[in-house]
Amino acid sequence: MSLIRLDKFLAEMQIGTRSEVKKLIRGGKVQIDGHVCKNADEKIDPEQAEVMVDHVLVGYAAYEYFMLNKPKGCVSATEDSRYPTVLDYITDHKRKDLFPVGRLDLDTEGLLLITNDGALAHELLSPAKHIPKTYEAKIDGIVTQEDVEIFAQGMDIGEKKPTKPAELLILKANVISHVQVTIYEGKFHQIKRMFESVGKPVLELKRISMGALSLDEKLAPGEYRALTDAEINYLRQRG
Ligand code: URA
Repeated sequence: MSLIRLDKFLAEMQIGTRSEVKKLIRGGKVQIDGHVCKNADEKIDPEQAEVMVDHVLVGYAAYEYFMLNKPKGCVSATEDSRYPTVLDYITDHKRKDLFPVGRLDLDTEGLLLITNDGALAHELLSPAKHIPKTYEAKIDGIVTQEDVEIFAQGMDIGEKKPTKPAELLILKANVISHVQVTIYEGKFHQIKRMFESVGKPVLELKRISMGALSLDEKLAPGEYRALTDAEINYLRQRG
């Protein structure tokens, strides 16, 4: 059982800033287990205590997990001076300590996990785990079977080591080709650099899965939803 101060609990659950919630507490607006509590230092067990503000129950979440279909034009960061961040799209949340798990480029769309579960993020991003990430891309040029083989062998993209074997699936080979690519690492701009090295620039890029998690097709760019318990358990077990 871990105890937490009442004002900290209310601030973490987004009821207000620390000073706003202190005011509510002093004003007798906050009840713990049916009794008014005017002491901001009161220690509570957030898993057990029934905390109400103005007679409305404050739900508790130690961890939150969201799947965002990241739109183009926002950055995978918690703050930025020039662009909206991916967190700006998560409008209904309890925790203040959310962050994106890994990064997609400014102009990349698709699956991004947003959570405050640092241990899970560490597992998913650990290079040793080789968590697969699958992308769909539109490519400027005709993607060929030779490219498939180069991707499968591993290629020089200007890093110390060649890339790990990647799976390239040609969905449509034309002046503009459509492909699906799965990589098992996450170097900076990796997909774009892989296609650049075969002389075929990426025109559009969208991540459709990461480990056990697949993008919900019902989510339009900019939309998000909470992960289901099954998705969270699956991710914890399988990455
Ligand atoms: N590879 C890229 O080049 N960009 C991304 O956003 C993700 C993978």
